[in-house]
Amino acid sequence: MPIHLDIGCARGKFLLEMAAIQPEKNFLGLEIRQSLVIAAEREREHLGLKNLRFIFCNANVSLINWLSILPSRTLSIVSIQFPDPWFKRRHQKRRVLQPLLLISLAKRLYPGCQLFVQSDVLPVIKPMQLLIESSGCFDLFETTYGDLLTNKPFPVATEREAYAISRDLPIYRALYFRNNNEIPQLEVLEANYQCFLNKAMMYS
Ligand SMILES: C[S@@+](CC[C@H](N)C(=O)[O-])C[C@H]1O[C@@H](n2cnc3c(N)ncnc32)[C@H](O)[C@@H]1O
Repeated sequence: MPIHLDIGCARGKFLLEMAAIQPEKNFLGLEIRQSLVIAAEREREHLGLKNLRFIFCNANVSLINWLSILPSRTLSIVSIQFPDPWFKRRHQKRRVLQPLLLISLAKRLYPGCQLFVQSDVLPVIKPMQLLIESSGCFDLFETTYGDLLTNKPFPVATEREAYAISRDLPIYRALYFRNNNEIPQLEVLEANYQCFLNKAMMYS
């Protein structure tokens, strides 16, 4: 069964609920904070969920290797929801969606698979969207700045999403589908992305 991969799943409330209501699907949550993974795994065992696993890792390091050995057609959905913002310019390279990770994901997402991103911070979601779009490998299905997606991909809110909704914060969402296009070389993607960023800065 194909896997829904959630990158930066924190203590996994979203996936615990998703796995319970969609037993026919598999879920995998990645989280860089070990204490959260231990708590999430404990809850998963308590609930007896067999279609869900949590892994303690830095997605920018371990995921890339793991994706390279993953059989094709194993991943069906990737979500990156409310990633840490790292506002300071010198810290922005710590943001989770980087060109190499995007390329590794694109290699394992076959045409028609979904990539979903959401955040309550516009300066975080914008560069993510620019990176995804500069790859040419994903078609934007729908994006909303502040409103709900008409086609919300999941019936469950993440912890941060529920918090943002309760505070009436705007949420920015974008749903992409992998297309048939070839994946660019890393250097080409980095150059395209820089171009997109420069253009976006010129018009902002
Ligand atoms: C702001 S929280 C959002 C959690 C959850 N997705 C939500 O929407 O409620 C971001 C999470 O991503 C995790 N994270 C940050 N960088 C990561 C990385 N490189 N690999 C895996 N997890 C990461 C953080 O530890 C944190 O738990």
